[in-house]
Amino acid sequence: MNIAVKAGNTADANDIPLEQINPARADRFQANTIEPVFERLRREDPVHFTAQSEFGPYWSITRWADIMATDTNHEAFSSADGIALANLEAVAEQEKIMGARRRGGAGFITMDEPEHMTRRQAVAPTVAPPNVAKMAPLVRERAGQILDSLPIGEQFDWVDLVSKELTAMTLATLFDFPFEQRRKLTYWSDMVTNMPGHGPVQSWQHKGEALFECFGTFGELWNQRVNAEPGIDLISMLAHNPATRNMDVMEYQGTVILLIVGGNDTTRNTISGSVYALNKFPEQYDKLRADPSLITSMVSETIRWQTPLAHMARVATRDVEMGGKTIRKGDRVAMWYVSGNRDESAIENPNAYLIDRARPRQHLSFGFGVHRCVGNRVAEMQLGIIWEEILKRFPRIELVGEPTRNYSSFVHGYETMPVVIPSRA
Ligand code: HEM
Repeated sequence: MNIAVKAGNTADANDIPLEQINPARADRFQANTIEPVFERLRREDPVHFTAQSEFGPYWSITRWADIMATDTNHEAFSSADGIALANLEAVAEQEKIMGARRRGGAGFITMDEPEHMTRRQAVAPTVAPPNVAKMAPLVRERAGQILDSLPIGEQFDWVDLVSKELTAMTLATLFDFPFEQRRKLTYWSDMVTNMPGHGPVQSWQHKGEALFECFGTFGELWNQRVNAEPGIDLISMLAHNPATRNMDVMEYQGTVILLIVGGNDTTRNTISGSVYALNKFPEQYDKLRADPSLITSMVSETIRWQTPLAHMARVATRDVEMGGKTIRKGDRVAMWYVSGNRDESAIENPNAYLIDRARPRQHLSFGFGVHRCVGNRVAEMQLGIIWEEILKRFPRIELVGEPTRNYSSFVHGYETMPVVIPSRA
């Protein structure tokens, strides 16, 4: 094993020989020391090959333009063999639990055209603007309840009491999932995305048990909805749409996991990221308080600045020339959105958090091309509402210590974040 892949190695990014850089190492993300690695790669080796790692060999694409070129070329870059760099140990264990992976085993995000689009279109109306607008009043009411229950003048964990609660609440609304059991959605998502020893996962068996519980619950929900009148929730849509109503159990389970994970960590970590960023850039917080109409652009700026999913991966279906290198057919490629969003050739002053940027939705965090995030309007609605309700209630949310971060180079976010709300408005 080369030095760059050893867990716990935090040698400075500029001291490591270029060919040994393995940007997917989870420990650098957890320690928040990853940015210098990407700065160096963008500068010195924007299409970078890691020959050996815990994820196998893979390419890293780190500049904005190359990421766009990759993400929008779905013929040359397939999603069918997984969309995240997978830790090889995790893959082997997961296969023991769930059986060998099959095409679409993680829902339509791991399908190519034309089958991908038929599935995506079955889900899209639930998360499209008209349905999102219908959901908004309920989300606002539930968000208000969560905020009204927060302690004043006492330290608490923002991730647990707010970010997870709000995201679980919105997902439960989307699925028409039993509201009192909403935190199960958080739990299952955390069980899927974490390795043993991290988050709530104690062992591979523990992870397997959680998945079976999740699939059992969603199996029952399918059976209820398929025999009922079609509704506007996601499960009912899947159970009644001609493109999905006959899908096999494994595809349904993959779709459920996709929707739970897709809608969970991402939004959760944006909610946490907004509190973090507004505290690190207090002049931006002042601007927001003075002019709440900036909430919409603040939400987009947070999604760029945080980049809740650090990368998406593809496999080349043919040889592709990029940045003077040849990516060979069958090679795995990581598009590092977290790096592209800091590329100064595309974003002015990219390291600054500026809530009134001229084009705030110009970011890579939702991806591009046929797989561009189908839930992006739900995410923006939820984040906008929470901030409207926060500003009505609390003059300030104070970060009182550094957050702890996820041990992951895929989910880019926070495990805990200590805050105090000094007073109500
Ligand atoms: C800030 C919040 C969010 C971020 C940053 C985010 C990010 C992403 C990214 C990067 C992709 C893949 C894009 C690509 O490969 O080109 C994606 C796909 C997807 N997201 Fe999101 N997402 C967010 C919120 C949500 C929500 C709330 C939902 C569900 C309600 C959701 C459901 C999905 C689904 C189903 C896909 C697969 C789309 C496809 O393959 O066609 N996401 N998301």
